[in-house]
Amino acid sequence: MTTDPKIKEARDRLAHARSVAVLTGAGISADSGVPTFRGTDGLWRNVRAEDLATPEAFERDPRLVWEWYDWRRTLLASIKPNAAHEALATLEARQDRFHLITQNVDGLHHLAGSRRVLELHGDIWKVRCVRCRRVTDNRDVPLALLPQCDSCDGLLRPHIVWFGEALDHKVLEASVSAVESCDILLIVGTSGLVYPAAMLMPTAKANGAVVMEVNLDATPYSAHADFSFQGCAKDIVPLLL
Ligand code: OAD
Repeated sequence: MTTDPKIKEARDRLAHARSVAVLTGAGISADSGVPTFRGTDGLWRNVRAEDLATPEAFERDPRLVWEWYDWRRTLLASIKPNAAHEALATLEARQDRFHLITQNVDGLHHLAGSRRVLELHGDIWKVRCVRCRRVTDNRDVPLALLPQCDSCDGLLRPHIVWFGEALDHKVLEASVSAVESCDILLIVGTSGLVYPAAMLMPTAKANGAVVMEVNLDATPYSAHADFSFQGCAKDIVPLLL
């Protein structure tokens, strides 16, 4: 239990909120050992997104793209959710009107017990057939290179939203509606640089929500947030409950 008055105030506000939305990014999983995208050790420091996370890259060299996703799936297979994921699952359980929106594809919110997760950027544990578009769960580690669809033999791709691709409009609409109607938007571990996810915070603010941010560093959101807590998600998020 902390004595920080700001934490206590945020906890009190959350306890009395009618409707809560949460937006998470790679930083919440960093404490579990999942690499983030930006920052000193970020994935995009070592590899070019254009070579691995675009439809053109997959058309050009599906094997290379699958090798990278297979490496990430192998890393994730042994990783566990941390105290921040768990606290958000607890928050969902106690809150009637609750939406968890994530940019993460790692599935750790589900593993922590969150039930209603809006996955803006897809799910690394799902594959999609490029021919018949059927989406299926797939937890094979390592994956057969190049995996094929059971129904039509088409090539399977990761069920991830790549650069230059549109988000699933139902997931995006549900996310926008969640932030439009929430009393509190809690943002955890995102750099706030990738659209359209980045516009969820100004949308929430424009609709009168109180914005709380938890991040290791300052972000474009920090100056506009009503509560901005700097530190590790696993240490701070549990204190808010
Ligand atoms: P980024 O890598 O851009 O940002 C991670 C954020 O987490 C940064 O602001 C860090 O300061 C913060 N952070 C790091 N460790 C933390 C910790 N232990 N506790 C709290 N905060 C921490 O990741 P995202 O914002 O999620 O898209 O990136 C958005 C999208 O860009 C991703 O979903 C991905 C990427 O391209 C796709 O793959 C489609």
